[in-house]
This record gives sequence, structure tokens and C-alpha cells, in this order.
Amino acid sequence: MTIQEKILLNQYTTFRIGGPARFFCVAQNEDDLIEAIGFSKKKKIPFFILGGGSNILVSDVGFPGIVIKMEMKGVTYAEDGNDVRVTAAAGENWDSLVQATVDRGLFGFENLSLIPGTVGAAPVQNIGAYGSEIKDVIESVYVLDVLKDEYKTLKNSDCKFAYRTSLFKEEPGRYVVLSTTCILKKKGGLNIGYKDVQEYFSFKKIKEPTLKQVRDAVVEIRTRKLPDIREYGTAGSFFKNVIVSQTKAQELIAKYPEMIVHAVNDKKVKIPLAWILDHACGFRGVKKGNVGTYKNQALVLINYGNATAQEITDLAQKMVDTVYEKTGIEIFPEVEYVQ
Ligand code: EPU
Repeated sequence: MTIQEKILLNQYTTFRIGGPARFFCVAQNEDDLIEAIGFSKKKKIPFFILGGGSNILVSDVGFPGIVIKMEMKGVTYAEDGNDVRVTAAAGENWDSLVQATVDRGLFGFENLSLIPGTVGAAPVQNIGAYGSEIKDVIESVYVLDVLKDEYKTLKNSDCKFAYRTSLFKEEPGRYVVLSTTCILKKKGGLNIGYKDVQEYFSFKKIKEPTLKQVRDAVVEIRTRKLPDIREYGTAGSFFKNVIVSQTKAQELIAKYPEMIVHAVNDKKVKIPLAWILDHACGFRGVKKGNVGTYKNQALVLINYGNATAQEITDLAQKMVDTVYEKTGIEIFPEVEYVQ
């Protein structure tokens, strides 16, 4: 494995932003990974695991350690009655895996269609869309525990999955995901309750959609609402949605009666931040210099040209301040800042 120096990271992120990595290598197997981590330990520099680069904002000065791009490949299927265990290596493209499983008629990944990035990143931030999250189907995650220098199979319940977070985010730098094993179903139910999906099928007058139709629906909805990463520099939703108390939600509904909220339990309510950014703060489709928000989704920040990380963080800070002024809510990035 070759370790290169001073490799610009903007070519490896979907934001198309980022200064150089001090060192950079590609891990095609476990030996490469061990070598790269050994290198970082010996040089006493940090390492950063790069997947599809679709959920990160790399600083303009770059990364002072070694960036390890995960390119381990391989997918296996093991049948067990109605269950099929799908084990995919960290470097596989996420949506290619979804496509392959839908082609085989396996239920479980369809709502997560077209999410950019790799299999290795999927459990880290517990990817989710249209009422499903990867935690719903993960059986286990095979990792390298860098702290203890050993391989481990973590069960779903060990991974502390929650909305856009997991053990892997809670202890950054400790675990490197090598593969994930999910249990998909040969005969399974479809989750078509999410508003956009429901509206799509009622418009098309389809009462009982097939698995493939659900994937097609999600692909179409995402294509309509979210920017194409081949066309725009972006990392998707920049901020997390907000969970507030019932009392706070009532206060906001009194101020903004058209806002639709979702109950998480009897005490907590999920607030659609995109709605607030759009209707209460006027942030949908804004553009200033090289940066802005997407015309169809206010949560999505865009690099319209040769934006710097600083320009993105300046806009993000303005959004944080405006939301706080208008609603008293504190918001937090979903995108990870790498520096
Ligand atoms: N809305 C607006 N204005 C906008 C955008 C949305 O008023 O500019 C309203 C919508 O009409 C809807 C609500 O806000 O009532 C929520 O919007 P949407 O359904 O598009 O979903 P979201 O909550 O903004 C989340 C995820 C997305 C995921 C979608 C669909 C987060 C941070 N984002 O967005 O994930 O695709 O749900 O399930 O949870 C990502 O993580 O990068 C991402 C794109």
C-alpha cells in the first residue's frame, strides 16, 4: 500500500471542499488498514476514515494526520428461512447494495434508496429516510477496535443507535467499521407511511405497491427534493432535525400554526427544521457568493462554485443564530466537520 503526501481532499468530498491531507492512503483489505493505523500510531498523528465523503465538511487547511480511504469490497448473502443475512464490506457503495438487494426481491433497504456514501458509513450515523433507519435491519457490525487492537463483532444492541448517531460517533477514532450484516426478508412488509411516499402512491393511484415500486418512489422523491451530488457540491441535510418538549412544541405551533410536528413519545416532539428554516427564517433557496441553500430543501447547504469551508460555516452560523432568534431552538450540524 502506498502512503501519499499532501493530497487535496476536495476531490474526495461531495461538498467539493477541503484542504490537503498530510498523508493519504487507500485500504483495500484489513492488512492495509492495520498498516495505515500503525503508521498513525508510530507518527503520533490522528487518522480519519473516509468513505464516500458525502457527510463531511473538511476544513480549508486540511487534515493534519492520515486519511484512510476505505475501499474494501465484497457482499455475501446467506439464506435462513425467510431471512437473508447480507454482509457487505465497508467500501461498497451504499445505493449499489440497495439496488442489488431489491433486484433479488429482498425487503429492508428500499426506503434507504439513493442515500450517497458507503456501507461503512451507514451504521456510523445510522442513516435514515422515509421512516426507516439502518438500525431497523442491522444484526451486527464487524469492527477493528483501535484502542484494544482487536477485531470485534458488535451486536445491534451494542451499537447505541439513535437518530443519526451511534457508538461509533460517541467514541470517535476507536472503531473502524469493516463490514455490516443486515437481516433482510424474502417476504416482508413495506413501510409506506411517510407523507411524501403516501402522496406519491395516491397520486399514481397505486394501492399495493411492490418492493421495486417503493424503491422507485424513493428515488423519484429524492431526485425531486434533493440536489444531485454530480451537479452540486453538497452533503445533504446540514443540520439534524430538532426534538423538543411538548410545551415548547405547543409554543411554536401557536406561533406557526401551519407547521406539522411528529410526536416521538408522550413527552417529546420532532420539529421539522427544514420547515422552520424555510417558512420562519426565509432560508430556502438563498444564495450569497459561492454558497447557499437548495431551492427545494432549506436544510441542504450548497457549494455553488469554489466555496471554502469557511463560507459554508459562516452561512451555517447565520442559520443557527436566526433559528435561535426566531424560535429559541438550538440546532446542531448533522455533517461532521473534519479538521
Ligand atoms: N419542508 C419545508 N421547506 C423545505 C423543506 C422541507 O417546509 O425547504 C417541510 C416539508 O414539507 C416537510 C418537512 O419540512 O413537512 C420535512 O421535510 P422532509 O420530509 O424533506 O424531510 P427532512 O426532515 O427535512 C429528513 C432527513 C433527510 C431525509 C428526509 C426524508 C434529517 C436531518 N434529514 O429530512 O436526510 O432524506 O428526512 O426522510 O433527518 C440527510 O441526512 O442528508 C438527508 C437528506
